[in-house]
Order: sequence, then C-alpha cells, then structure tokens
Amino acid sequence: MKPVNIGLLGLGTVGGGTVKVLKRNADEITRRAGREIHISVVAARDLNRTRICDTAGIRLTTDPYEVVTDPEVDIVVELIGGLDPAKDLVMRALDAGKHVITANKMLIALHGNEIFAKASEKGLMVAFEAAVAGGIPIIKALREGLSGNKVEWLAGIINGTCNFILTEMREKGRDFVDVLKEAQALGYAESDPTFDVEGIDAAHKLTILASIAFGIPLQFDKVWTEGISGVTALDVAYAEALGYRIKLLGIARRVEKGIELRVHPTLIPERRLIANVNGVMNAVLVKGDAVGPTLYYGAGAGAEPTASSVVADIVDVVRTLTSDPENRVPHLAFQPDAISDIPILPIEDIETAYYLRLSAEDKPGVLADVTRILANHNISIEAVIQKEPPNGESHLPVIMLTQKVQERKLNNAIREIEALSAINGPVKRIRLETLG
Ligand code: NDP
Ligand code: HSE
Repeated sequence: MKPVNIGLLGLGTVGGGTVKVLKRNADEITRRAGREIHISVVAARDLNRTRICDTAGIRLTTDPYEVVTDPEVDIVVELIGGLDPAKDLVMRALDAGKHVITANKMLIALHGNEIFAKASEKGLMVAFEAAVAGGIPIIKALREGLSGNKVEWLAGIINGTCNFILTEMREKGRDFVDVLKEAQALGYAESDPTFDVEGIDAAHKLTILASIAFGIPLQFDKVWTEGISGVTALDVAYAEALGYRIKLLGIARRVEKGIELRVHPTLIPERRLIANVNGVMNAVLVKGDAVGPTLYYGAGAGAEPTASSVVADIVDVVRTLTSDPENRVPHLAFQPDAISDIPILPIEDIETAYYLRLSAEDKPGVLADVTRILANHNISIEAVIQKEPPNGESHLPVIMLTQKVQERKLNNAIREIEALSAINGPVKRIRLETLG
C-alpha cells in the first residue's frame, strides 16, 4: 500500500522527538499501522538551528502554510504550540481535507469544540493524546478502555514541570526559581512557564479530561485554577510532618449538584500511590463505578515520552483512514449529540478538607479563640501542631488540618480568624484530599 504522508509543524522538543521515534521505530510502526509512514515536509522558524533529530531526507520549510496546503500531505501534525498561528493552521488543514494530530492542550481546551465540529462536518479525525499527561495514554484509556463506566471522579498530577519543582523542593530543599530553570532547560516547561507554575497548563488538561470523562463540552473558563507559586518550603515540610505530600492536582468530580473542576496545590496522604509520583512523572487516578479506582502513570513531558503519544495517534489515524467516519471513536468519547450540559460548580460550593497555617501571637487564649471560631462554623479540627516562635519572635506558626467542610463556610471562618488582633497576616490555606 502507498505510504501515508505526514506534514509536521514544529521541530522543537516534541517535533524533534517525533521525528526521532518515527525514524528509529519505522519497521515496528509500519507493521502496526499496516502502511509505511513518511515524513514529507516539516516547518520550523529557523532552518539553521541544531536539532535533536536527524532531518536528512526531509523537506524543510519556514512556511507552515506550505505544509497544511501541500496536496501530498495526508496528516498534519501540529507541534508548534500556542494559539496563533496554530489554530488557523489546524482549521486550514481541516479545510484542505487533512486529518490533524496535535499536542496542543491550550488549543484543544479553548477551541476544541469548534475544531471538532469542523472535523466532524468534514469526516476527519483530530487526535490529541499527547495534549494530556505526555506519554501516558490517558485519553485512550478514558475514551475507550473505561467506556462501560460512569466516571465518578478523577484526580491527576498533570503538569510535569510543577511536579518536578515540588519534588526537588521537598527532597533537596532546592530553590523554586532554580528548579524551574532546570525544567525549562530539560524541555518540560511551556514557552511561557507561568502557564506551568500558575496551573493554567494543568487547567487546559483538566478541561479535556473532564469533557471526555463526563461527556460535557470543553469549558476551560469554568476551571478554578491556582498554581504552586505560593507553596513555600515551610508548607512542604509541615505537610510532611503531618504525613502528607503537596502536589498540584487537577480534580474533576461528579457530585449531586454538578461537577467540580479545579486545579490547585493539594495535600495527599503520603501512603497513596499518587503521593509518591515524583519528578517529571505524571499520574491520573480515575474512579469508575464499575472498575473502581484505576491509576495511570508515566512521563508527563519531554521529547520522546510525548512523541510516544504523537506517534500512537499517527498509527491510530492511519489504521482508521479507510473506515466510515460515522463509526469512528468520537473526539470527546460521547456522541456529539449526546454531550450534556451538567453545571460546573463554583469553588465556594466544593467540599473538601483543609490545611491551615496561621501566625499567632504567643500568649494564652489565642488558639482557643481560633478553635471557637471554627467550632461556631461547624468546622471540625483533625490535627493541630504549634511550633516554637522562630528566633525569639512574638508570633508562632500554628498548623491545623480540618475535616471536610464547604469552602464558603471555611472562607467565612478564615475572615473572622484574620480579624483577630493576635493573628498576624493572612491565613494560608491548602486543600486536602484523601483520595480514598
Ligand atoms: P518548542 O518550543 O520546543 O517547539 C516549537 C516548534 O515550533 C519549534 O521548532 C519552532 O521552530 C516551531 N515554530 C514555532 N512557531 C512557528 C511558526 N510560526 N512557523 C513554523 N514553525 C514554528 O515546543 P514543544 O515541542 O515543547 O511544544 C510543542 C507543543 O507540544 C506545545 O503545544 C506544547 O504545549 C505541547 N507539549 C509539549 C510537551 C513537552 O514536554 N515539551 C509535552 C506535551 C505537550 P524553531 O525551532 O525554528 O524555533
Ligand atoms: N509543560 C508541560 C508540563 C508539558 O510540564 O507538564 C507537558 O504537557
């Protein structure tokens, strides 16, 4: 059979990794796909830059539109990132009748509804396994492997850069900024690393996971998003002393009134497998009503792990090139006319436990005032630790773990605690999930 021609947009970390894997494993990939896969043209900005892959025999161009309009190209693989010109290129590729593969979670989270609508109208595939959790085939697992389940919740470490930073801070006491620089040098971070550290990248990925898990539209604007820039070495150490690890989690949970969609630093009991996922590794825990909890683990970023997902998508698309478009796996797992509009809950409606750290004046009665306020709001305390005031200072750190409470109630209590004259500065709050 005639080879399938790939047009590649981007030759950076993921693009370079994809060329490497396609070339190195060409025989195995052909045996799986049933046809040879040929990289016919690649676009990058600077053709003189040293690449991580061998580009011998590949036509190179600086014009990405040459790739998406090339009549020889069957599948366009978008690995440029960002929205502009990536969105236009993807739309133009679909207009030109080409299937699309992308690792661009921002593009899918923000414009996926529109992109999939166009692809469906044209009978084309858009595959995006590499957009979530790098090398872990989590899209395939959720969309196909778990399709007999009603998904109850999922929780994932879905940003490799943040997990790498938190691990290095905990294990080696390293400085946040230093570790971030290393993550950038290793190719893990987004071109704008604030997307990583402020939780935006994880929110893009959670948007996609939730849509596939619950059959809801992609709605990035409804994800509550907090990053790790406010997590201090002190909080990491106190959490550890209490038997917890701090991870940036993306959580999607179906509750009676709707769906919780949130990304934030989270304390997890250290006995949980997911609490021991370190470095650039990602993990997604999915609770289905039939299967129970399942855990998916692997490298969340980096050239070849991400290329593994891109190439798997290429093989998938090649295998189904000749199948009837009506009978392909739907882009978002559920049939497009069966997507439902379950409400996304505001953050104040969620219920979870909390870690609180406050700076209290070292005098009798202060802790009693704090616990009285919590009790007045029906908030039960699970644990309290009180530290010595540092270097003869007048205030000491108090750390508390609460039981599950509605966030609105906790916010009211925190406001009252912060108004006490014996409490210095804001109360630090980190959500805690037992993931049981
Ligand atoms: P890089 O910055 O390493 O690579 C981007 C590539 O796109 C470069 O080769 C660049 O060319 C090329 N490019 C950018 N703009 C243009 C343009 N206008 N025309 C032609 N080429 C262009 O990014 P990554 O490989 O890290 O990321 C690519 C995508 O994959 C992003 O969506 C990212 O979120 C996603 N992703 C990344 C992962 C990772 O571990 N890095 C993991 C999972 C997903 P040049 O090299 O000449 O500058
Ligand atoms: N910047 C992302 C991360 C790349 O660190 O997880 C993988 O999506």
